[in-house]
Amino acid sequence: VIGYYNGKFLDPTSSVVPIEERGHEFGDGVYEVIRVYGGQPFLLDWHIERLLNSLHAIRIPSPHDADGYKELIVSAIQRSAEEEASIYLQVTRGAAARNHLFPADTTVPSVSLVVRPLSAKPDQKPGKLLIQPDERWANSYIKTLNLLPNILAKQAAHDAGADEALLVRDGHMIESASSNLWFVRDGKLITAPTDRFILPGITRRYVLELAGQLDIPVEQVKLPLSELSSVDGIFITGTILEILPIESVLSHPVFGPLDTLQSGSPHPLDVKPEE
Ligand code: PDD
Repeated sequence: VIGYYNGKFLDPTSSVVPIEERGHEFGDGVYEVIRVYGGQPFLLDWHIERLLNSLHAIRIPSPHDADGYKELIVSAIQRSAEEEASIYLQVTRGAAARNHLFPADTTVPSVSLVVRPLSAKPDQKPGKLLIQPDERWANSYIKTLNLLPNILAKQAAHDAGADEALLVRDGHMIESASSNLWFVRDGKLITAPTDRFILPGITRRYVLELAGQLDIPVEQVKLPLSELSSVDGIFITGTILEILPIESVLSHPVFGPLDTLQSGSPHPLDVKPEE
């Protein structure tokens, strides 16, 4: 495992981040997770394109151009000598005295990175989803560090014996806590369109490209939760899990049993605990 922070390669457990780093205090930054296969970063150009879009969306001037990120990533992989790995890359607005307002233009954004070895094959045992309300903000297309709703939804899924959360917003199935969501119905693939409420996954984009090459029809629509029982298959996609088939969907107590699902369910915080 190797780490990198603002120009230096180091042990990722070393304490180098200033207390008043804005990523640390505000979650004021963005990130990417990139897969390395056989020592080569996979779909790197798409990841860098999305990183630059995320930075632009939250008004952080990028400290590197696309080639600069490529050089950094390639040198980190070489230094790690890993063949099968994940790369975590984070850019924040930098370190400055705590203030909600952006710091002065002289504050330099911080760049950190970790290369971590992975086993070559992810666990491909079919997974389970737990239906959860999508409590994220209205700009989930930005890959920001603010992952609290994702973390809580995924932990709830884990606690219920599932692998991922199936996030529902306004009665529609959007994506998962850290992956995109796909359905198979009548020989077609169905996935939500990339509007502001979903993360435009790199693996999603790759699967769309593969489907095009294989002449598999794809419909980009948000399916209502009430149509879950009409699908023939479900899978989720993400950089590290790749493509994971789903064998079952569990319901959240707030949504009630699957056969009585309807939109407009009460918010979890409106549900009074038993006296
Ligand atoms: N998660 N949706 C969300 C909310 C995600 O966080 C991710 C990725 C995806 C899949 O995107 P991609 O195919 O580009 O990995 C969809 C990363 C891996 C993470 O947070 O660890």
